[in-house]
Amino acid sequence: AVLFLLTTGCDRRGPDGEQVDPREKIVIKFSHVVAEDTPKGQAARRFARLVQERTGGRVEVQVFPNSTLYKDGEEMDALQQGAVQIIAPTTSKLGSLAPQWQLLDLPYLFQNEDEVHRALDGEVGQKLFAALEAHNVHPLAFWDNGFKQMTGSKGPLVHPRDFAGQTFRVMINSRVLEEQFRCLGARATGLPFSDVYGALASGQVDGQENTMSNIYSQRFYEYQPYLTVSNHGYIGYVVLTSATFWRSLPPDIRRIIEETMAEVTLWEREQASRLNDENFRQIKESGKVQVHMQTAEERREWQEALEPLYRNFRPVIGADLLDEVFRLKA
Ligand code: LMR
Repeated sequence: AVLFLLTTGCDRRGPDGEQVDPREKIVIKFSHVVAEDTPKGQAARRFARLVQERTGGRVEVQVFPNSTLYKDGEEMDALQQGAVQIIAPTTSKLGSLAPQWQLLDLPYLFQNEDEVHRALDGEVGQKLFAALEAHNVHPLAFWDNGFKQMTGSKGPLVHPRDFAGQTFRVMINSRVLEEQFRCLGARATGLPFSDVYGALASGQVDGQENTMSNIYSQRFYEYQPYLTVSNHGYIGYVVLTSATFWRSLPPDIRRIIEETMAEVTLWEREQASRLNDENFRQIKESGKVQVHMQTAEERREWQEALEPLYRNFRPVIGADLLDEVFRLKA
């Protein structure tokens, strides 16, 4: 059960309207699915420490990394039920809650982090946030991970034909990612992040796509001898709390959380690119992976094979949202 006791000078009530002692602590459970030594893992810990310090201990943020408390597919329910107070899922996993979010799964949509931030920190991000209001969810920030690479176990993944007949793991709740692999002649299996290592080790799936930090921190490369540096998609996070919980916080606590989250977001984005570069170096040093750097010509081949996604998902995502991204890139 969540200890939800407020410390304020005024008469405060808990989520069920019960009278609570204003001198008690607020406990925030922050659940996520990646290892601690990753962009999201490090940022969650930093946020926890700073909020505890800046509230003089009135707020305690307990971080539960690596799916230790809830795994993919369980986090959103846990948030809505008040079992946890903050989650930070990859945006791809919100596709079933609000289909517009699948925008961020479109392959080769962004060329670099700067384009990502221009979209998410501007009107596109605001429209995506607005799509969550109907679901009792209060977004706090967009955090980075980085660009996705392809890994496989059957042979080099250079041309679209190299994917034929294979099965690839995709993140849950994203029809764009499922269709992406079908466009490449492969099959897609949606699995929770915590199940990916076992699925690669057992051969349940032949390959997967992810960032260097996830490929390294979860040791996927041990069963994926082929890595193509394609930067074909982007993994980023939306940090969420429940609107119910957010409304119940004292205004001064909300302000400290917002200010700390804004500061940690800038820090996290710098860490993300540094960590992904470092983990790519460590993957190469493992000697277990044959690395292929995608050429411009090969990129054009993939983009041509994946073009139907833009046409097919334009109505689902919303033409205005898609056109806004293109305007930003112009
Ligand atoms: C995945 O499921 O592959 C990633 O979204 C995990 C994460 O949170 O980076």
